[in-house]
Amino acid sequence: MIDSHCHLADETFAKDLDQVVARAKDAGLQRVMVILEGGNAKEAEQAARLEQLWPDTRFAIGVHPHQAHQFSDDPQSAVSVVREQFAATPSARAIGEIGLDYHYDFSPRDVQQAVFRGQVRLARELQRPIVIHTREADEDTLAILREEGAGEDGQVRGVLHCFTGSDALAGAGLDLGFYISLAGIITFPRAGDLRATVRRVPVDRLLTETDSPFLAPVPHRGKRNEPAYVARVVDTLADLHGLAPADMAARTSANFHTLFRP
Ligand code: NI
Repeated sequence: MIDSHCHLADETFAKDLDQVVARAKDAGLQRVMVILEGGNAKEAEQAARLEQLWPDTRFAIGVHPHQAHQFSDDPQSAVSVVREQFAATPSARAIGEIGLDYHYDFSPRDVQQAVFRGQVRLARELQRPIVIHTREADEDTLAILREEGAGEDGQVRGVLHCFTGSDALAGAGLDLGFYISLAGIITFPRAGDLRATVRRVPVDRLLTETDSPFLAPVPHRGKRNEPAYVARVVDTLADLHGLAPADMAARTSANFHTLFRP
């Protein structure tokens, strides 16, 4: 079982990081992929601590659309920051999370697009997968991915993280060769439409994540989320696809290794 997307370098985990890691291991997690905000020194420090506690940890590094505004004057400088940090982080495997967020619009849309596009190009150059955050921006996200070569020859690979989108978005993502990653939202009582969509996603394209500290699954809703709870996501996916939880855990872990090359 793998948590393919969590924010363990977030300060909410600073005090009890060792216990959070111990509980993840006890729950049977092989590893986690921790998302680091490009250029955030505090997170990088906690990431170093985490690597000592759990050497199997992997990292994705990227400038999130919420932070893109910091690079308004020169979107290309976001790419330089990520490039440097990626090169200095031997356990980094992906560029992310990156994308577009038109729900919050914390950054001007043209800046979000430029920062996103630049990082897709960087990933392509480095031959690394991308971790996509997209919210109320399906069309533009897909357009940029296609313009940068996704779906052509496997040069732009990745995952739509914390997927809550439509059937159409799932289909478009699958057509581009992307994986679909599910978080605790899939356990929520009102997520019936999402569960129906996920039933149609082939098992060999599914990933599991917590997006902790956010979005704790049932029955932990409203509390701080943590990687150990990814078991609830695995159980729900197993149920939807008629597999035993252990089988779903093994298959989604194999998908993780295929995409991120352990
Ligand atoms: Ni995230």
